[in-house]
Amino acid sequence: MKKIVALAGDGIGPEIMKQSLRVLEVVAQQINFEYQVVSAAFGGAGIDEVGHPLPEETLRHAKSADAILLAAIGGPQYDTAPVRPEQGLLALRKELGLFANLRPISVKPALAHLSPLKPEIVVGADFIVVRELTGGIYFGEHTLNEDSARDVNDYTAEEIRRIIRKAFEIAQGRRKKVTSVDKQNVLSTSKLWRRIAEEVAQEFPDVSLEHQLVDSCAMVMLTNPKQFDVIVTENLFGDILSDEASVLPGSLGVMPSASHSANGPSLYEPIHGSAPDIAGQNIANPVSMLLSVAMMFRQSFASEASARLIEEACDAVMNDGVLTTDLGGSATTTEFVDNVIWKIENSEVGNG
Ligand SMILES: NC(=O)c1ccc[n+]([C@@H]2O[C@H](COP(=O)([O-])OP(=O)(O)OC[C@H]3O[C@@H](n4cnc5c(N)ncnc54)[C@H](O)[C@@H]3O)[C@@H](O)[C@H]2O)c1
Repeated sequence: MKKIVALAGDGIGPEIMKQSLRVLEVVAQQINFEYQVVSAAFGGAGIDEVGHPLPEETLRHAKSADAILLAAIGGPQYDTAPVRPEQGLLALRKELGLFANLRPISVKPALAHLSPLKPEIVVGADFIVVRELTGGIYFGEHTLNEDSARDVNDYTAEEIRRIIRKAFEIAQGRRKKVTSVDKQNVLSTSKLWRRIAEEVAQEFPDVSLEHQLVDSCAMVMLTNPKQFDVIVTENLFGDILSDEASVLPGSLGVMPSASHSANGPSLYEPIHGSAPDIAGQNIANPVSMLLSVAMMFRQSFASEASARLIEEACDAVMNDGVLTTDLGGSATTTEFVDNVIWKIENSEVGNG
């Protein structure tokens, strides 16, 4: 029996979490997956309930989970609060040791018109950005003086090795290509990064490795994104490149993410926020949450078939023209998910 901790959070969070748990139940029945869902307060909901965005009980459940689903947190009512919902997320990442952040990007024909890039460039793009999350310049020493400032970028060989290994493992289940991104013509950390990438590549003879400088990678992402399979990079570069990548599909509503630790539970969540402007109206796009559930099946429970079932059902529903308002349609959140469930139950998808 697997324990899945559900952190619905704030804004549209509870709406999309509820719908994703419906899909989880249907898929679980099909593959005889035994699980229990434990819902816990988190973010603004944690502040409202017990005065803290990461309540002790929530942390306890998260630590003993097999996987964690998070919808979204935050809202304008907390902007001036002494503790903010986002502090809960930072604390949770730290407590769980989540060092690898994965953001898959794919651009489907049905949504190509939403992309800021021309369809011939972007349709078919399908890659993952693997970002190192716990080291580098964000966590180095920061000094701010009147006339000078300094930020230290530190990486150990072990920190680099574990994230690069993660990228190679992911590439093995995909098109077997890793693009390691650095700035080795200037930075010492990047010289070490490149050396370790070469070493790790020896452990994965079935996966090819290429190196790109971060400035060049930023350009190629806009001119030829189809050439990427798995991109792996350090914290700062990954922050920027993953945000650049996230505009390619043209909507925040269709992008999931995963964060992994060395041995503990992984966290799966949409990349968007709590969308307070549309909360409570049943119009939020549930796709990024559903694709987060798909990632959970693939990466925490080794069920590729379940992941595909959800991904293909979402694609099929969108191809039928059933779209939420952010994608130019008029379907409600519930209607969209009803259609996804119909596709799954009628086995129109997932047989290939
Ligand atoms: N990981 C997280 O939970 C996370 C991430 C980013 C922002 N936030 C928080 O979310 C709150 C709102 O932030 P924001 O407005 O800058 O970003 P946001 O991602 O919540 O919303 C940006 C825009 O995209 C739309 N949108 C987002 N997700 C959507 C979906 N699933 N379906 C349809 N439309 C969607 C929103 O309506 C809004 O117009 C803030 O409190 C912020 O701190 C949380």
